[in-house]
Amino acid sequence: MRLLIMGPPGAGKGTQASQIARRLEIPAISTGEILRANVQERTALGEQAARYLDAGELVPDDLINAMVRSRLAEPDTRKGFLLDGFPRTVAQVDTLDKILADQGVALDKVLVLHVDQDELIQRLLGRAKQEGRSDDTEEVIRRRLEVYREQTEPLLEIYGQRGLRVDIDGMGDVSEVTDRVVAALES
Ligand code: AP5
Repeated sequence: MRLLIMGPPGAGKGTQASQIARRLEIPAISTGEILRANVQERTALGEQAARYLDAGELVPDDLINAMVRSRLAEPDTRKGFLLDGFPRTVAQVDTLDKILADQGVALDKVLVLHVDQDELIQRLLGRAKQEGRSDDTEEVIRRRLEVYREQTEPLLEIYGQRGLRVDIDGMGDVSEVTDRVVAALES
């Protein structure tokens, strides 16, 4: 299966992606995680990306597109993948379309998690206390939510028109949400 998981910051994309990828035995690929690893390892990409992550802004499309193209060329993605956090802009949708067309494959489903804004903020502030992620401050969380609304939410329409989008209630316990995601995949 070739899947996307979308939703605002704190919707549970990463949490659900790891559960689902394990069940389906496909890699979960998080662009945010790859970027954070590059920042930590002080690679050239990490040096370029850090200021965008810290400000809650999107990293420029050319950097992200090259990163994803190279990740999706790796052999473990041949039997499928679950992409978390990509695409986030129309230009990234176009790039993903080209990558998949070049490989002669197509997406199966686009899973979209929906969670109330107050709950998103509470989850991310809670994580800030536990993990200290640099973009989990209240100010940056609000900016990330704005960026999502302005630049990424419009993509839901695109995948809806293509008949790929499946909307999932992301409120409630992690396991309840996983059950809904599994049901959405089986539908
Ligand atoms: P990214 O890492 O993708 O962050 P995000 O979209 O802001 O999402 P989060 O990781 O914060 O939330 P999530 O939905 O994965 O929820 P999670 O499962 O972690 O991107 C970070 C940055 O990288 C971007 O701002 C941008 O700068 C850059 N970037 C990444 N991709 C890019 C792209 N394509 N283009 C350009 N720039 C890009 O859960 C959140 C918390 O809630 C956790 O503590 C979790 O334990 C908890 N939780 C999860 N589910 C539940 C539940 N059901 N109930 C209670 N708590 C829950």
